[in-house]
Amino acid sequence: MATALLAALALNHATADDAWKLPPEKTSLKPGAGREMVLGQCVACHSADYMTSQPPLDRAAWAASVEKMRSKYGAAIPTNAASAIADYLAAQYGPKAPGR
Ligand code: HEC
Repeated sequence: MATALLAALALNHATADDAWKLPPEKTSLKPGAGREMVLGQCVACHSADYMTSQPPLDRAAWAASVEKMRSKYGAAIPTNAASAIADYLAAQYGPKAPGR
């Protein structure tokens, strides 16, 4: 009887743990130069889905998007990082990106 109760408690505990797991990160950014920079600078406030769900944007449009994050939303992105990020996003999520 006591054993059954303990087992039930253990089972209950395992279920409670599962309930507190973070949802799995569904997006993985494509590999490419600058990817780590994007993961470092761009996913603090929102998921990478915000980038990957955009229509294909050219480099100027991605640069403007990064600039908007800095000026409008206060993202502290260093200038050299912003440039590398725009390069990466245009290469991987631009009109000429592979798989578009
Ligand atoms: C300081 C917080 C912050 C950081 C860091 C940040 N963003 Fe954002 N981003 C926002 C907010 C706030 C929104 C608007 C959220 C909404 O509308 O739900 C947004 C929205 C977006 C969107 C959706 C389109 C739009 O303009 O609203 C894109 C694309 C985007 N961010 C890209 C980026 C990229 C690329 C980076 C890295 C260079 C970045 N973000 C870093 C705060 C941030």
